[in-house]
Amino acid sequence: MLYNFDEIIDRRHTGSLKWHYTDDTIALWVADMDFRAAQPILNTIERVLHHGVLGYTKPTEALHEAVINWHGSRYGLALDKQHILFSHGVIPSLALMLRIFTEVGDAVLVNDPIYTPFMTKVRDNGRRLILSPLTEAKGRYHLDLVDIEAKIVEHDVKLYLLCNPHNPGGRVWTADELEALLMICKKHDVAIMSDEIHQDLTLSGHNFIPFLSLATGYEHKVVSITSMTKAFNVAGIKGSMIFAKDEVLIQKISQQQRLSDEHDLNLFAYEVMASAYEQGGEWLAQALTYIEANIDLVCDFLEQHLPNIKVMRPEASYLIWLDCSAYGQDNQMFYDQLREAKVELSAGIQYGDEGHLKMRLNVACPKAVLMEGLNRIYLAFSEVI
Ligand SMILES: Cc1ncc(COP(=O)(O)O)c(C=O)c1O
Repeated sequence: MLYNFDEIIDRRHTGSLKWHYTDDTIALWVADMDFRAAQPILNTIERVLHHGVLGYTKPTEALHEAVINWHGSRYGLALDKQHILFSHGVIPSLALMLRIFTEVGDAVLVNDPIYTPFMTKVRDNGRRLILSPLTEAKGRYHLDLVDIEAKIVEHDVKLYLLCNPHNPGGRVWTADELEALLMICKKHDVAIMSDEIHQDLTLSGHNFIPFLSLATGYEHKVVSITSMTKAFNVAGIKGSMIFAKDEVLIQKISQQQRLSDEHDLNLFAYEVMASAYEQGGEWLAQALTYIEANIDLVCDFLEQHLPNIKVMRPEASYLIWLDCSAYGQDNQMFYDQLREAKVELSAGIQYGDEGHLKMRLNVACPKAVLMEGLNRIYLAFSEVI
């Protein structure tokens, strides 16, 4: 079926986090899409409702098969049923990995910039946060492998939290980059957690590689964590998966989950996950085509009207990282000007010092909404000039 991503659905007054302003502010910030979910997912929810009994539920064989087939056929990740653990969310799983691989006071390495909870969870759980800034060349971020190894040695790092694809920079790390990183971590006995929630939003011309698929011989120290929530726009339902291949590690993770009874998902999460992976491909392909056109629209608009904003074109996802430093030296002033123009972006500084004078723009919305948002961004920045 052909989906209509141009449809404008009012999300104000629904408890939507993104559309929290009740005036006519345009929300182009937090990472969810303003699109209606795939019809098979909505049909699944209706089927469950129609059945009418919403009791305790466990993952079915069909769900396991759907997860295995999706990851095997798309990314060559060979999973067996016992390699899949379910959890409430990627960030709860990240916090769990801090308990699995580190003790209070241990050093954990994270890139800068990075999705904010990578930093806050490390600090809030009493671990030492060590930052390795990404370097920028030709409009793309790169891992600074020399800095990463130096910091690992200097701080006796126990765990590296990787974001692949990267939020907010949109990089899909290549096999060469991931293998080089793996070699360094192996050499210094550092565990790796790879957050792969943006995997299914990889854009044309790029190739997502699950970290676990490279980790043969080092599987006791590697987990990939992912979810259907980001790509299929069902973040309100919550649910994710931890993939691990080493038997002892799997036992350790499930034991930790049992301690706080964190392993059971709700009925809707299991059902939506299965239907996304079984029948969501058609919707996803159309959504990605729409998103790529929106990314082109933003690039063209900014080149024409605000040429001094440096655009980092994403390789995955619908988030565009904008360097606005040519327009001023005050993060708060940018935010205030945008507020006044009634358009909301994510302030880059919340993703680390590398986000100074940067903004993150979410383009997963109907074109008409995006166009209005861009006009307001133009107004905000012309006032800055
Ligand atoms: C890189 C990354 N990880 C995790 C999350 C959130 O995951 P969850 O809602 O499953 O905790 C997001 C949401 O934007 C994200 O961008």
